[in-house]
Amino acid sequence: MRIDKLLANMGYGTRKEVKALLKGGNVRINGQPEKSPKTHVDPEQDSVTVLGEEVEYREFIYLMMNKPGDLISATEDAHDMTVIDILQPEDIIFEPFPIGRLDKDTEGLLLITNDGKLNHRLTSPKKDVGKTYYARIDGRVTDEDVEKFSKGVTLDDGYHTKPGELVILSSGDESEIELTITEGKFHQVKRMFEAVGKRVIYLKRIRMGDLELDPELDLGEYRELSDDELNYLFSITNLENTE
Ligand code: URA
Repeated sequence: MRIDKLLANMGYGTRKEVKALLKGGNVRINGQPEKSPKTHVDPEQDSVTVLGEEVEYREFIYLMMNKPGDLISATEDAHDMTVIDILQPEDIIFEPFPIGRLDKDTEGLLLITNDGKLNHRLTSPKKDVGKTYYARIDGRVTDEDVEKFSKGVTLDDGYHTKPGELVILSSGDESEIELTITEGKFHQVKRMFEAVGKRVIYLKRIRMGDLELDPELDLGEYRELSDDELNYLFSITNLENTE
């Protein structure tokens, strides 16, 4: 990889700014001053320093966000703010994108990465990664609903869902539930409740597989995944963690 690209990727400025940094004699490769932006380096092998400080090269970024209910899960949108818009510039330079989609009004666990392979594996219908949602429902959720969800329900477009594991936390005029599903059809949780004549009034994703939303994260906050969390994701997708 070209040294100017590597430094720009790592947040040392635009290509132009990085060129000036090089020209000023601020960059060393394996201890030797380097002025040409065209010089190639191997990020795995070569030591690069800027103003005497070692550049730690990384290709991928893996973030967990507690998504607020007013952002779009996309990289850009013509009308609304997206989850990427609220990231820090040092994270945006990695050009990350959300893994899967949460509706604009849905809160909770959203993974954001620039690792296309992990994204593909986690969203593949072949991988039955359970996604668990907490929801408040307008109406009384019953054991009959639990039974129906366990067999899958038929959505408004005729699609019969895979089984969903419905747990009733409280039941009344308004009910609280947790639902685990392994698919990600458009508005799936809302439409599954519509299929049994009920309406979701609040929805939050709390878990993906065994990966829990960090309760320390307020709405709109995010952090990097820990090594254990990342290893877990790689293990369930049969990928190796090379970070
Ligand atoms: N199901 C929904 O209806 N909405 C979401 O955001 C996620 C799952």
